[in-house]
Amino acid sequence: MFVSESLNINEQGHLTIGGLDTTALAAEFGTPVIVYDWDGVRRNCRRFTESIDRYYGGNGRVLYASKAFCCLASCRLAHEENMGLDVVSGGEIYTALAAGFPADRLYFHGNNKSEQELAYALDAGVGAIVCDNPEELARISRIATETGKTARLFLRIKPGIDAHTHDFIRTGQIDSKFGFALETGEAMKQVKKTLASPGVELVGLHCHIGSQIFDTKPFVEAASVMMGFIADIRDETGYVVPQLDLGGGFGIRYTEKDDPIPLDRYMEPVSDEVRRVAKERSVPVPFILLEPGRSIVGAEAVTLYTVGSVKEIPGVRTYVGIDGGMGDNPRYILYQAGYTVLNAAKAGEPADDVVTVAGKCCESGDLIQENAPIRRVEAGDVLAVLSTGAYCYSMASNYNRIPRPAVVKVEGGQASVIIRRETPEQLIENDV
Ligand code: LLP
Repeated sequence: MFVSESLNINEQGHLTIGGLDTTALAAEFGTPVIVYDWDGVRRNCRRFTESIDRYYGGNGRVLYASKAFCCLASCRLAHEENMGLDVVSGGEIYTALAAGFPADRLYFHGNNKSEQELAYALDAGVGAIVCDNPEELARISRIATETGKTARLFLRIKPGIDAHTHDFIRTGQIDSKFGFALETGEAMKQVKKTLASPGVELVGLHCHIGSQIFDTKPFVEAASVMMGFIADIRDETGYVVPQLDLGGGFGIRYTEKDDPIPLDRYMEPVSDEVRRVAKERSVPVPFILLEPGRSIVGAEAVTLYTVGSVKEIPGVRTYVGIDGGMGDNPRYILYQAGYTVLNAAKAGEPADDVVTVAGKCCESGDLIQENAPIRRVEAGDVLAVLSTGAYCYSMASNYNRIPRPAVVKVEGGQASVIIRRETPEQLIENDV
């Protein structure tokens, strides 16, 4: 059953989010619309920050991974909740600063940051840059020296753990465009280079082993490898790396097949392992950073669409045509991502149909879900797609010149727009 802290069914049998009727929200704000239970997002932020207190005695920080959903409101919320932000582009840095987010709590990621982005980040005074490759190290060192600054660096390390194979393996991730490999000695070489480079200070190591992970083992293994590397660095260079960023990747529920585990079940064994290796190798427990994105916002939003047509092809399938699609949610076309779809006005009634939900783009692959069980819908009904809070709006496009949807938050029982619906005028704004 989909009912959660954010979603419920009211007396009329309608789906609610944050206590408000989704059919009324669709009528008020129009469709397609993405609606967040903002109290739920805040709750998730607090779960993470409290877990840093519980498992690391407060010696750490949670960075919300902006890429999951980035706008002024999300940056303000992260600021209110005393978090940092993982940002991956000049655009995300700009958004955060425009929201009044303190630059020194921005952590700038990316495998190919441009010269302009690096100069912008250094000038703004970002808290740290997560360095990805040797050319970038040279670039940062040069810009910092030229401008009389010291860049605080993390090095992105590939711990050699592929969390997406059934039995995760320790070599798979060497084939990744991100970061420095441990096995080849590349990572140690870069650590030494960083320690010897002018204008930079090595403050931490970073790893991120993947996304939508349910198993705790790869996280524990990654923590073990990274702590071991901190000890190896101390042994070889005498330098004690003070901070360790363990990335994000915690899984959420999209369909009934997903069975996310409580946050404590990740945090406890990982922190145990960090302390175990610290003791065994006699290195201090580092300041710990986490970078959850999906698990902060993903399950706290629904996208509401209006059904325009129901096309039954006897013996083949039934297409339900909606007024959005891959433009606002490309995750099915990209990853065949599973979703739960509901007839918003009959959310409490059992499914009596199996349909393919199709978007409105001129593209046969523009689907939101295939073979989805649903309570029968017809033209004019509101169709809700659950768990669309992460990597939907942030990956939205204007394919076919379809304006991006509005985004609404429900907070304390009040709904308000946080991103206005795009207009046709905005679509031609940059055209010359
Ligand atoms: N830190 C780093 C360095 C990352 O690359 C990512 C995600 C995160 C943190 C946050 O991971 P999360 O907690 O959200 O799993 N577009 C894909 C997901 C791409 C994830 C990219 N990196 C999707 O829609 O499933």
